[in-house]
Amino acid sequence: MPTIAFVSPKGGVGKTTSAFLFATAIAEIYDVTVIDADPNHPIQTWATGGNTPSRLTIISGVDEDTIIERIEDAAAQTPFVIVDLEGTASKTVIYAISQADFVVIPTQGSQLDANEASRAIRVVLQSEKMTGKPKPYAVLLTRTSASIRTRGLAHIQNGLIDAGIPVLETELNERDAFKAVFSFRQTLDGLNPAEVPNIDKAKINVLKFVEEVFARLAAEEGGRKEDQKSSAVAGAA
Ligand SMILES: Nc1ncnc2c1ncn2[C@@H]1O[C@H](COP(=O)(O)OP(=O)(O)OP(=O)(O)O)[C@@H](O)[C@H]1O
Ligand SMILES: [Mg+2]
Repeated sequence: MPTIAFVSPKGGVGKTTSAFLFATAIAEIYDVTVIDADPNHPIQTWATGGNTPSRLTIISGVDEDTIIERIEDAAAQTPFVIVDLEGTASKTVIYAISQADFVVIPTQGSQLDANEASRAIRVVLQSEKMTGKPKPYAVLLTRTSASIRTRGLAHIQNGLIDAGIPVLETELNERDAFKAVFSFRQTLDGLNPAEVPNIDKAKINVLKFVEEVFARLAAEEGGRKEDQKSSAVAGAA
């Protein structure tokens, strides 16, 4: 029952867009709850378009007093819980991270954005210290060009990797379709190819993102089982 939180104190880096795309992609197969914990509730507003997939439940109106309970309730109801958070450092964000099995830190490809990402990473590491448990996370580069790899972006990417920060190989490229889902209040599948270019490429981009997060979750789960096995063996010895 993974809970995946999308976190960054920087506004406008693509938290809502990536959380939404992730949730609607997996809602094709699994039941998913999106906790729209942004006071501006962008995903709840999207849902007023009437195109919410049947497997997707959206909960909004949460705050620091209710976020933990809402996540726990949602995790008991659906196999996936996706949490979209506001772009500030708040108690709500800290509590959501404490409940998450995986944290995605969306980051645009500039040095200033990378610096903001490191603030989010510090909160994740604090959560690890408080709970004494690993808190898997990864940076997701967003709004990158699908066609051009700039030296600036490569430099930032390498800087993060050299600092031991996990960075997803998949980037969420800058795509019209990723904006259009909100303007038309549609899922990617519901967009009209006559109105929006490259919907297929956008879908492939999201699928790769989902697959990579799934692979990381599976690797974490595998690692945990191995740890449990070795401590059981050590205990029996
Ligand atoms: N991959 C992308 N391609 C095209 N546009 C994008 C992409 N990611 C985000 N955007 C656009 O950038 C703007 C900010 O994105 P979004 O709302 O997802 O960021 P956010 O981190 O959730 O912001 P906030 O901190 O305000 O909640 C929006 O106009 C969105 O449409
Ligand atoms: Mg947002």
